[in-house]
Amino acid sequence: MRIIGTGSAHPSLVVTNKMLENFLDTSDEWIVSRTGIEQRRLISSESLEDLAVESALKAMENAGVVPDDIDFLIVSNVCNDYVTPSLSCVIQGELGIKCPCFDINCACSGFIYALDIAESFLATKDLRNILIVCAEQPGRMVDWKDRAQCVLFGDGAGSVVVTKGDDMKAIRLNTVSKVDPLWQKRAMQPTPFLRKEEHDGPLVMNGQDVFKLAVSSSIDDIEKVLSKANISAEDIDLFVLHQANIRIIDAIRHFSKQDKSKFPVNINKYGNTSSATIPILLDELNREGKLKNGDLLLMSAFGAGFTTGACILRWSK
Ligand code: ACO
Repeated sequence: MRIIGTGSAHPSLVVTNKMLENFLDTSDEWIVSRTGIEQRRLISSESLEDLAVESALKAMENAGVVPDDIDFLIVSNVCNDYVTPSLSCVIQGELGIKCPCFDINCACSGFIYALDIAESFLATKDLRNILIVCAEQPGRMVDWKDRAQCVLFGDGAGSVVVTKGDDMKAIRLNTVSKVDPLWQKRAMQPTPFLRKEEHDGPLVMNGQDVFKLAVSSSIDDIEKVLSKANISAEDIDLFVLHQANIRIIDAIRHFSKQDKSKFPVNINKYGNTSSATIPILLDELNREGKLKNGDLLLMSAFGAGFTTGACILRWSK
């Protein structure tokens, strides 16, 4: 598998920490020092579909392909306005793509899971190019009265186009069923027969549990992909990590004993956009000319489930 194009899209509204001080008992100083986040983009008038489509069109343009060149569409998404059909079906028409598509919900690890599926599909099916779109609106999941979680998230979309190639050096996915640290339930329609209470509410998160799980599982995944690919941390050019909290990134960096310059971050601008963080960061690096042919990228993510995934990919766009 080979990545041949990247794209991203953000809501127009920039919400700074100072703006949050207007209705939350918080401060710019607390949020920056505990999370690294200075501002986030939040959906106000646009829809998540708009962002998904914009990022996908940019990725196709960057790859030099047209809708007819796409043979499969995979969308990573936790929640959107539709229960059914899937977000991939909704945007497929707007993109003018004519191919099978489906959504995956692997929370913030979705991009790595989608890459693994794409790699297998390209190896076993007669496909030319696959479009992967990660489109997320965690800003619509959290309780905006809960200062411990709403400050963390932002909305956005990141996409890549992949084709056949030899750039995936190793990949590892892992899932350990742990619901308590991070979950959200929404009530379904009532029936005349229902005899149980149902929960409908915002995201519930135990921040410290998530923090510890995130650091330990990412370190484990990174060790395992490095060993699987027989590559040392010194050989990795960039660690493109899920942007959830700068202190989680710092802890992983500390363990890897690698220089700070190898860990690009944009969490200060966008907050945690769930599975979209890595493709958004990848798109920024690509467009800023910070990725050189032959660079080895290590990507690692974690999310509700508890799902984790890491991979080592050579950049050869
Ligand atoms: N502003 C000011 N004070 C705050 C805020 C805030 N926004 N949020 C919490 N506090 C307060 C708490 O109320 C608490 O006050 P108290 O001591 O009077 O009770 C104090 O700060 C310390 O709270 P902690 O929860 O101990 O703070 P911590 O240092 O653990 O940081 C945080 C909290 C930022 C949520 C951290 O635990 C974290 O980042 N965890 C990981 C979260 C995460 O990554 N979630 C998503 C992962 S999966 C995915 O990406 C979807």
